[in-house]
Order: sequence, then C-alpha cells, then structure tokens
Amino acid sequence: MNIQIRPEHKNDISTISMINDMAFGQEAEGNLIVKLRKKKSFIKDLSLVACMGNEIIGHILFSKITIKNDTEEFESLALAPMSVIPEFQGLGIGSQLIKKGLEKAAKLGYESVIVLGHENYYPRFNFTPASRFQISCPFEVPDASFMALELKKESLGSVSGCVIYPNEFNNL
Ligand SMILES: CC(C)(COP(=O)(O)OP(=O)(O)OC[C@H]1O[C@@H](n2cnc3c(N)ncnc32)[C@H](O)[C@@H]1OP(=O)(O)O)[C@@H](O)C(=O)NCCC(=O)NCCS
Repeated sequence: MNIQIRPEHKNDISTISMINDMAFGQEAEGNLIVKLRKKKSFIKDLSLVACMGNEIIGHILFSKITIKNDTEEFESLALAPMSVIPEFQGLGIGSQLIKKGLEKAAKLGYESVIVLGHENYYPRFNFTPASRFQISCPFEVPDASFMALELKKESLGSVSGCVIYPNEFNNL
C-alpha cells in the first residue's frame, strides 16, 4: 500500500474532522483540532495527513505544550489526537504517521514529545512513562499511559514539572 504523509492543506480541514469523527465515533476530537488551529500552540507543519492517492485516510497532530514547575518552564510537544479511518486501521498507517511526525518534529528543533495513550502502542516508538523523567500529568491517569520521548538525547534530563495543555483539551 502506497501511503504518503504530508502536512495538511487548507482544503483538508473538513476531511480531517470527518476522519477523526469516524475513528473516534464522536465529534470531540475533530472539534478539538478545529479549536487548536486557532491557537499559537498549533504547528501547521505538524498536522499531518496520511494519503492513499488523493484520499486522506489518517491524521496526526502535534502541538506545543509547556512543562512547568515552580520556577521554570520548558517547551515540549503533545501528540494528540491521531486517527485512522476504521477500514484502514491495523495496517501500519498510524505507525507511519507517528514516525514521520517524530522525524519532522526533530528536524524543526523540538526536543521532546508527550503522549497520553495506550501503554502497549507508544512504547514501540520508544515512548516511556513520563514519571521516569519527573514529568507529571495534570489529569489523573495510569502512570504507564502518560509517556514521554526525547527527540534530542538527554533533553528531558533537566526537565521537571507538570504538563500544561491548551485549555481546549479539558473538554475532551
Ligand atoms: C490508534 C490508531 C490511530 C492507530 O492507527 P493504526 O493505523 O490502526 O495503527 P498501526 O496499524 O500502526 O498499529 C496497530 C496497532 O495499534 C493498536 N491499536 C489500535 N487502536 C488502538 C488504540 N485505540 N489504543 C491502543 N492501541 C491501538 C492495535 O491493536 C495494533 O496493535 P498490534 O500492532 O500490536 O496488533 C487507530 O487505530 C485509530 O484511529 N483508533 C481510533 C482513534 C484512537 O483511539 N486514537 C488514539 C488515541 S489519540
């Protein structure tokens, strides 16, 4: 299967919402992306679509977040949400979106990525529990589901604090 991964275009916007609605079976994630697009935390080059020919079948978003403690703030990225339309799930498209996204994020100079997701899925891309890095989640979640990845070696060694997500994530 020939899949191309590229940044979103202006005319992909409604399709991206539709793909999220289909993958999640609800509109919350698609609506979240619409709201995030209007924020400074949105990075157009890291809103990626997976295309098969002209058809978009998957999407992934990385947006800017802050990791904050009493005295310091650090910039990082959140991977969320990601979606592949149901009939194409389990074929490696999600993996391609993640790998391409991580590669692009590193090229753009971002040093780390945080994800709240399935503990059996993200470790295959080298995510490990964020607690290993003294990074905590603002929501109550199982330790193994809240993960971090260093895009630059040792970049999280000196980072500690709680992740501050854009407010829009609170409505998920
Ligand atoms: C999660 C998702 C994007 C993965 O895309 P994909 O193209 O199916 O992923 P891949 O083919 O690369 O990998 C498939 C693996 O993901 C696992 N997987 C699928 N959905 C998953 C989920 N919601 N949580 C955890 N793992 C999931 C499968 O069990 C499979 O595992 P295996 O390789 O051990 O068999 C896709 O399944 C999806 O859109 N799910 C619904 C929306 C969602 O839950 N998004 C993630 C939360 S933001």
